[in-house]
Amino acid sequence: MSSHTDKPRCAVIGYGKVGSVLSKALVEKGYPLEGVVSRSLTRDPWLESLRIPMKFDLSELPDDLDFVILSVRDKQIINLTASIVKRGGFKKETVVAHTAGAVTAEILNLVRAVGALPLAWHPMQTFVGGEGAELLQGITFGIDGDVKAVEIGERIAADLGGVPYRVPPDKREVYHLAAVVACNLMAGLVSMAIKLLNDAGMDDDQVQKTLSPLIVKTAQNIAAKGLPHAISGPLRRGDDLTILAHKSILEKFPEVWQVYRQLSLEIMERLANREVSDRLITLLENNPR
Ligand SMILES: NC(=O)c1ccc[n+]([C@@H]2O[C@H](COP(=O)([O-])OP(=O)(O)OC[C@H]3O[C@@H](n4cnc5c(N)ncnc54)[C@H](OP(=O)(O)O)[C@@H]3O)[C@@H](O)[C@H]2O)c1
Repeated sequence: MSSHTDKPRCAVIGYGKVGSVLSKALVEKGYPLEGVVSRSLTRDPWLESLRIPMKFDLSELPDDLDFVILSVRDKQIINLTASIVKRGGFKKETVVAHTAGAVTAEILNLVRAVGALPLAWHPMQTFVGGEGAELLQGITFGIDGDVKAVEIGERIAADLGGVPYRVPPDKREVYHLAAVVACNLMAGLVSMAIKLLNDAGMDDDQVQKTLSPLIVKTAQNIAAKGLPHAISGPLRRGDDLTILAHKSILEKFPEVWQVYRQLSLEIMERLANREVSDRLITLLENNPR
């Protein structure tokens, strides 16, 4: 622990989209951030203003760190683990945490050989670059690893505004898949909506203006009210004629039809209105002519 504070002495290896937000959050909460490692970034005004050292290699980090975050791309984690082992680790019981969603702490297994404690410490949030520490408020940190590492990881996650959640290691992939479906695939849905508005003659600028408030409000409603309360539209109303019209248009967009059909069935299951859903399921059963 640091001599100035009882908070763990930290370092962040991989100062990209996730690493930069975690760095800001750690500093904001008073954690001693002893350095960040980046192979290509040479300058960062925020780090410079706080005199946080930027290193090129992990061997340049101090040895007495308590909590080392590996926020590198998933496929880099194994190489980094090997580098940590090669340098003899940090001090005994340094927690080495990766931020990947899809893999457990076992990917860091090798660091046990040098007395370090592996931790999977995944912030379930979308990071696209340039964000601040507030992005972590209220988000789930999916955690697994060695008992002591988990306890430390939980404390730090909560301190940064997150909500720690222990993910059973055998459920890690399905846990991560849920994040991909809710976040990344939503972009796929929006891409389909863009195609349809382009077909209606709208240019990209107008498409962005048109879809943004709708997407934001839909997400807010889902967040505030949950399902099925946040569902509106023809499925909620049992509006057969509109659905038939959509089906006819989607002859031209067979890839959209596949998604429209499947997601409509999913929504009807949530709405659980037997009378309406039996009728609508018949409409959705067959492909457009
Ligand atoms: N983005 C998200 O929404 C999100 C959400 C949750 C979790 N995650 C996870 O967080 C991790 C990082 O994702 P990201 O989106 O932040 O990726 P990213 O923006 O590409 O950042 C990764 C950073 O790691 C650096 N790096 C790679 N190898 C390195 C090494 N050996 N030493 C030092 N730096 C190294 C890269 O820079 P150089 O190549 O210049 O070194 C890059 O800046 C991944 O495991 C990802 O699955 C991402």
